[in-house]
Amino acid sequence: MADAFVPTSVLNRRTVLVDRFNRPLTSLRISVTDRCNMRCGYCMPEADYAWLPRSSILSFEEVDRLARIFASVGVRKIRLTGGEPLLRHGLPDLIRRVARRTELTDIALTTNGILLAAQASELRAAGLQRLTVSLDTLRPERMQSFARSPKHGDVIAGITAAREAGFPPVKLNSVIVRGYNDDELEDLVEFGNVIGAEVRFIEYMDVGGATGWSMEKVVSRREILDRLTARYGPIEPLFNGTDPAAPAERFRLGDGATVGIIASTTQPFCRTCDRSRLTADGHFLLCLYADEGVDLREPLRRGATDEEIRELITQAWEERDDRGAEVRAAEPHRGALYTLTSLRSDPLREMHTRGG
Ligand code: GTP
Ligand code: 5AD
Ligand code: SF4
Repeated sequence: MADAFVPTSVLNRRTVLVDRFNRPLTSLRISVTDRCNMRCGYCMPEADYAWLPRSSILSFEEVDRLARIFASVGVRKIRLTGGEPLLRHGLPDLIRRVARRTELTDIALTTNGILLAAQASELRAAGLQRLTVSLDTLRPERMQSFARSPKHGDVIAGITAAREAGFPPVKLNSVIVRGYNDDELEDLVEFGNVIGAEVRFIEYMDVGGATGWSMEKVVSRREILDRLTARYGPIEPLFNGTDPAAPAERFRLGDGATVGIIASTTQPFCRTCDRSRLTADGHFLLCLYADEGVDLREPLRRGATDEEIRELITQAWEERDDRGAEVRAAEPHRGALYTLTSLRSDPLREMHTRGG
């Protein structure tokens, strides 16, 4: 059994809900749509997809009610994801509702940025606190070939608009895939420097949806650090702030810039994982790699009480022993997690459905 990670806050407050490894349920990633206006090769490489039926997508009232119940069992951080969350009409309305929950200390959003420029001010005014934008390449033609989108300029405009709308510096997520963008590490660091954003390099993960994954295409944390050291000189690891569950390790480069590295593939961080997911159709997932989730939509629509739903969440979390990335890392002959057939039979296994 893995060593149990026991944050002091848990030891001090016996009422905190913890799983079998003493990990609290602090963070909830809410996917608001499974649709996306990009087709990143590491997430949605196929030509077509089975979408969740529209009638199954939770309304804002339903999401807000669940957010309230999750907050009552300890969730403090909410991150809205997709698919592409800005495709969901009226998203600021959901943010306004969720932002009313005083227990929540952090409301963030991960977006591909294409629709951000037009929405940044309204999102900020609605109460969104932080933004992460995916930016894998600085070359529009690469985005066109790898992610099948011509909207690179819109993404850059979105990043600029976030700053103008008064958001704190955005984080930029760059998934590094060998043969696609691994020659852009330094350019991305420099772009981050110029616009005052922190770049986080993410190891390519073998999650559902990544049907083209292979270990050869993963550029490891080690390799990234070696490359950055060769370019910028000695690298200083930085204290991870107050959040022991944050997936990004932060570093200061020789030229003073800071970068994050998310080493989910070669150095998983399941021991401290306090995160869970809610899919757009109301399934509660205990792990990014979980095969299935707990259906909360059915009880929600059947008229279950808050207490009944709370009990479902509590019971699932108390039984949680997931450490999906660690289990995958121990796999001797590692390949893509799912076949296309198994993804087609259950779209909830897709990364774009469970929120990246
Ligand atoms: P903050 O730390 O709150 O800024 O956000 P975050 O880093 O959790 O959010 P973000 O959506 O930017 O996630 C960054 C990347 O970390 C994702 O794109 C995934 O590649 C990876 N990641 C996110 N959640 C998980 C998870 O639950 N497990 C693992 N193994 N990797 C994750
Ligand atoms: N590996 C790593 N990160 C992934 N994402 C999606 N698929 C993968 C994958 N196979 C993440 C990206 C993006 C977020 C929405 O989802 O980091 O920024
Ligand atoms: Fe948490 Fe599962 Fe990701 Fe590990 S793989 S960090 S347990 S969500």
